[in-house]
Amino acid sequence: MPKIAIFASGSGTNAENLIESYKHTSMIVTRVYCNNAKAGVIARAQRLNVPVTVFSKDELWNSSTILDSMRAEQVDFVVLAGFMMLLPQTMIDAYRNKIINIHPSLLPKYGGKGMFGIHVHEAVLANHETESGITIHLVNEEYDSGKPLFQTTCPVLENDTPELLAARVHSLEYQYYPKIVQEYVENF
Ligand code: GAR
Repeated sequence: MPKIAIFASGSGTNAENLIESYKHTSMIVTRVYCNNAKAGVIARAQRLNVPVTVFSKDELWNSSTILDSMRAEQVDFVVLAGFMMLLPQTMIDAYRNKIINIHPSLLPKYGGKGMFGIHVHEAVLANHETESGITIHLVNEEYDSGKPLFQTTCPVLENDTPELLAARVHSLEYQYYPKIVQEYVENF
């Protein structure tokens, strides 16, 4: 049974959806790793009985604590769900082609450093785009530039606010992320 570790930094609605979705499948989320002690994802994961490890940037980048813990728990794949930090080279190497991210835009548009969460939707609206969407992609050493696995679109509407657009994009994320990750893992 493939073991999934989720990395998240924020509210954690995608993390919750992934955990729930895999409950009765051949995959399991064994731990959530979080770099923000105040993040909503912590309570969400705990409520679903998934253990959480909170870590600092220094621990991730300047020690092998996190990678050691993943190896000890025999994590097979890593799924980023609103994780706002780059991963160190050692982790990319250890999990080459086994780390998946979701980004709330149609990459390569609106990706890169500083482009996360609501900032993405603000930029899409500022540029008067008529469509946005999601990109599910493999993770490499740089922000948002790994191989795309899946994209789908949604319209940007006349009177959209960043929050309204975020909600529309979030529903695409809930609909597709668990499914696309599962297909990828099962065919790996
Ligand atoms: C999601 O929309 C995700 O695509 C985005 O952050 C949000 C997290 O929401 N990720 C990025 O912007 C990564 N660059 P959540 O915490 O409710 O799942």
